[in-house]
Amino acid sequence: MKRLEYSHASKFLHWVTALLIFGVLPMGFVLDDLPEGRIQNLGYDLHRSFGFVLLLLAAARLAVRQIYGAPEAYAGLTAFERRASTATHHLLYMLLILTPLLGWAATSAYPVTISIFWLFNLPPLAPQSEALSKVLFKLHEASAIGIALLLVGHIGGALMHRLIKRDGVMERMLPARKS
Ligand code: HEM
Repeated sequence: MKRLEYSHASKFLHWVTALLIFGVLPMGFVLDDLPEGRIQNLGYDLHRSFGFVLLLLAAARLAVRQIYGAPEAYAGLTAFERRASTATHHLLYMLLILTPLLGWAATSAYPVTISIFWLFNLPPLAPQSEALSKVLFKLHEASAIGIALLLVGHIGGALMHRLIKRDGVMERMLPARKS
């Protein structure tokens, strides 16, 4: 049977991802400018820990999508909207996986051990090298900027469907209403 909206699991993971990304992304952009010390270190520990959670969430979302499927593109979309939203979703998934992996590899090369919520450490993803770490941090930053730019289009598009077109696109990702 064809799906008309996303599965409960997909919706749940989408909104948890959104909540975390709105914390982790701005944090990444300001952490470097904070004065060195306890607050900055705590910020880095939380940024790395929640970044790792975002990586797991992205993997879980792709698995859930495979298992429960996803609705086809909304029937009322123009050909341009269909292509733009499919490309945005694919790129978002790609960067949601790539950005934390680049951060993990860059931090390993720095070298700093990544502790996840002070519970366990991640194994290094890259050999120790200052030059490599610099390149990987630049790529991590570029990838994060890519997510931010895609989200401007993604959220703008979602709001346009909700507030101007007033069609059913947004409902496909909102919690199911009891009838
Ligand atoms: C206020 C914030 C957000 C709103 C209103 C929103 C809205 C939506 C809506 C309505 C859809 C379904 C589109 C359709 O039916 O074709 C969707 C899908 C999606 N959203 Fe969001 N979103 C938000 C934040 C985010 C964030 C922060 C991310 C990731 C960083 C994200 C990633 C995705 C992805 C990858 C899909 C495609 C899901 C799939 O087909 O598996 N969204 N979003």
